Amino acid sequence: MTLTVLVLNGPNLGRLGVREPDVYGTATYEDLVQRCQEVAKETGLEVDVRQTDSESEMIGWLHEAADEGAPVILNAGAWTHTSVAVRDAASQLTSPLVEVHLSNVYARETFRHTSYLSDIAVAVVVGMGLEGYAAALRFLAQV
Ligand code: DQA
Repeated sequence: MTLTVLVLNGPNLGRLGVREPDVYGTATYEDLVQRCQEVAKETGLEVDVRQTDSESEMIGWLHEAADEGAPVILNAGAWTHTSVAVRDAASQLTSPLVEVHLSNVYARETFRHTSYLSDIAVAVVVGMGLEGYAAALRFLAQV
């Protein structure tokens, strides 16, 4: 059976392309989905790429991944730095969690240097734009 990786994106990531292009680049959310699908095909994975601005929906998706034993690539956006609830949901995963950020959060405001997710993730990718998702998928294809 092919392994399905959930690629979960949090608030404001649906606005990629128009949102602060100096920070996040000009690639759109649709480009992000397409890049994940390309790499999934290359690596023999299935991907299910989603985005939500609702914290409750994100927590539901993490519960679903926990119940299915699915690996997760998570860009929790601002919830990374604020949400114990998203961390508690991600803590229930039984397959690897990879935390991804498009921008290099460590080169930005200090409030972005704190992550509620990094210590429960097997890997963290920052500052590589869409290629960070590609790297995370390639990593998950061989663990
Ligand atoms: C982000 C970084 C976060 O600090 C920010 O709140 C985002 C996007 C990134 O992908 O670089 O929404 O997760």
